[in-house]
Amino acid sequence: MSQIDLQPVKGTRDLYPEDMRVRTWLFAHWRDVARSFGFEEYDACVLEHAELFIRKAGDEITGQLYDFRDKGDRHLALRPELTPSLARMVMAKGAALALPARWFSLPQCFRYEETQRGRKREHYQWNMDIVGLGSVAAEAELIAAQVEFCRRVGLTVAASDCVGGVEPEVIWKVSSRQVLGHFLDGMGITGDRFAQVCVCIDKRDKIGDAGTTAELAKVGTTPEQAAAILRLLDVRGLDQLALHVPADNAGLVALRELHELAASFGIDHLIRIDLSVIRGLSYYTGTVWEVFAQVGSIRRAVAGGGRYDKLCEQLGGTAIPMVGFGFGDVVICELLAELGRLPALPKKVDDIVFPMSALEFPVANRIAAALRRQGRQVAVDYSGRRFKHVIERAETDGAARLFILGSNEVRDGIVVERTLGGTERQERKLPLTDFI
Ligand code: HAM
Repeated sequence: MSQIDLQPVKGTRDLYPEDMRVRTWLFAHWRDVARSFGFEEYDACVLEHAELFIRKAGDEITGQLYDFRDKGDRHLALRPELTPSLARMVMAKGAALALPARWFSLPQCFRYEETQRGRKREHYQWNMDIVGLGSVAAEAELIAAQVEFCRRVGLTVAASDCVGGVEPEVIWKVSSRQVLGHFLDGMGITGDRFAQVCVCIDKRDKIGDAGTTAELAKVGTTPEQAAAILRLLDVRGLDQLALHVPADNAGLVALRELHELAASFGIDHLIRIDLSVIRGLSYYTGTVWEVFAQVGSIRRAVAGGGRYDKLCEQLGGTAIPMVGFGFGDVVICELLAELGRLPALPKKVDDIVFPMSALEFPVANRIAAALRRQGRQVAVDYSGRRFKHVIERAETDGAARLFILGSNEVRDGIVVERTLGGTERQERKLPLTDFI
C-alpha cells in the first residue's frame, strides 16, 4: 500500500502540542475579555443547513461554501461563519430569550478560499454579539472589548502610549452603511441592489477602481454612478463626512455618538471614520468596522464586525437589532509572532515518577495517583531508560520534581524525590506511606 499523504488537507492546520499551547493562550484571552464584559459563551454545530449561508446578493462567502448532501439528502455545509447560526438560535428561542443578550463564541469556520498569508480554509473566530440593543452603545462596547484584548496581548493601543505623534499599532476603521444608503437611495439603488453594491465595492482593495466599476456595471450601475460611489469611499473623518450627508442622517448620527462613547472608554484615539470600509457580507445594515494593524507585514483586517438589524427578518422571522464582530486566530497570531510578542509557552508538567523497572510500575502508579489528587500534573516515565536520559527528558518537559523508584526503594518503603531545574541537586527520601 502506498503511504498516506502526511500533509493536512489544503488550507487546514495540524496543531502539535507546542502550537496548541499558543491557541489555548489566545482562546483564554478571548474568553477572559468576553466574560469581563458580562458575555456568556454559546456554540452551534459546525454542520449547518446550507441555505442559511446562501444569499442572493452575491456574498463571496456563499461561493466559498464547503457544502454537500448527506445520506438523508439534506443540503448541509460546514459553517463559513457563525452569525447566521446565531440568528437561527435567536429566532428559535423567540420571546423566551431575555434581551438584550450578550453572547460570545469561538467557532471553527471553513471557507473554500485561495490560501495565502493570513488566509486559510479553516480558521477559528472569536465572536461577540449583542442581540436586542439598537443603541450604538452596543458597537462602542464591542469595540472596547476588542481594544482590551489587543492591549492584553501586548499591542500598543493605550492613549498614554500614543502621544507625541506615536501611532497606535492597531486602529479601528469605522463606517456606516446608512451613509452609503443615503447616496444610493438618491440613485434609486435600494433593497437587494443596495446589498449587491456593498458586496461589489468591498472588493475594491483587491480589484481596483476599474474592476469595481466593472463589477458595479454587472449589478446595473452606470459608470457615472460608479464614479460617484468610488468618490464617496474616499471620505475620511466626521467633519468631511458631515459635508456629504444631512446632519440627521442616521449613520452620521450613530458615528458621532460612537465617537463620544468611545471617548468614555478612553479609546476614541483609535477610531478612524473611513468610508472605504464596507464589509463583504450583505446582511450588515448600519455601523460597520474593521480592525487594522498598522505594524507588521500582513496588511489585512485582523477583525471585522457590524450591525445587522434585518438578518432575522431576511431568514423569515421578525427583525431584531443585532451587532457583533468576528476576530480570526490566523492574522493575529501571525502578527504577534512577527512582532515577537507571543509569550514563551514551554511544555509543563509538575512531577515525573520514574519506576526503574516494570516491577515498580504498580507502586509508581499509586504515587502518581496520590500526587494527582493533590492537584499536580504528573506523568509516569515507564521507559526504563538510563537515568541520565530520564532526568534530561524530565527537565525538557518542565518538571519541578522527579520521583525515583527502584527495587531497593520499594523494599525500604521509600521513594527518592529529586528537585529539578535548580543548579544544586537536591534529593530527599520520602516514606511511601506519605502517598499510599
Ligand atoms: P468576516 O469579516 O468574514 O466576518 O470574518 C471575520 C474575521 O475572521 C476576519 O477579519 C478574519 O480575521 C477572520 N477570517 C475570515 N476568513 C478567514 C480565512 N479564510 N482565514 C483566516 N481568517 C479568516 C464574519 O465572519 C462575520 N460573521 C463577523 C460578525 C460577527 N459580524 C457580526 N457578528
